[in-house]
Amino acid sequence: SGEAGSGVPPARELPLHPAIAPLEFLLGRWRGEGEGGFPTINSFRYGEELFFSHSGKPVIAYTQKTWKLESGEPMHAETGYWRLKSDGSVELVIAQSTGLVEVQKGSFDAERRTMELKSELVGNASKVKEIRRAFEVTDRELSYTVQMATHTTNLQSHLKAILRKL
Ligand code: HEM
Repeated sequence: SGEAGSGVPPARELPLHPAIAPLEFLLGRWRGEGEGGFPTINSFRYGEELFFSHSGKPVIAYTQKTWKLESGEPMHAETGYWRLKSDGSVELVIAQSTGLVEVQKGSFDAERRTMELKSELVGNASKVKEIRRAFEVTDRELSYTVQMATHTTNLQSHLKAILRKL
């Protein structure tokens, strides 16, 4: 039960690593709704939950799941890690349930709690060329937008959502 060397992870809360302290407001569970679209598809609405956690390391672990509002049937899901670089910029690595992977880099405004990110790498994608993500956190709300460019369509909105901290 958590003895040194036993390989069992400690159950206690670990202190937040100072490198990610500016992102502490993300930690916890968020739930909300979004809407999606693109010039080539029918628009749709979805439910979504995000969970941000840490283990004392200088990185935030992230999981997302979405579902159909009417039936609860699972839709897209993704998971990854968020880190702040020493220059104040932010970097995400994300693995999507569709098999696509992305490396996102951009800016973080700690005062406004906004992030603007652009894909530096999109891997294993059949259609997607570029993904841009923007986040904003206000008092109890997290909102984001996702834009993408595909081989047939230039950069256009695909998703926007608003979530509340549970
Ligand atoms: C369609 C990418 C997130 C639901 C698509 C298409 C692409 C794509 C490339 C096909 C567009 C075309 O054929 O021209 C992505 C990327 C995402 C993302 C890169 C994240 C960065 C999501 C999420 C949901 C979702 C979170 C649901 C909540 C859909 C639906 C369609 C679609 C319903 C249309 C039907 C289909 O192709 O399955 N997406 N998507 N997507 N996406 Fe996403």
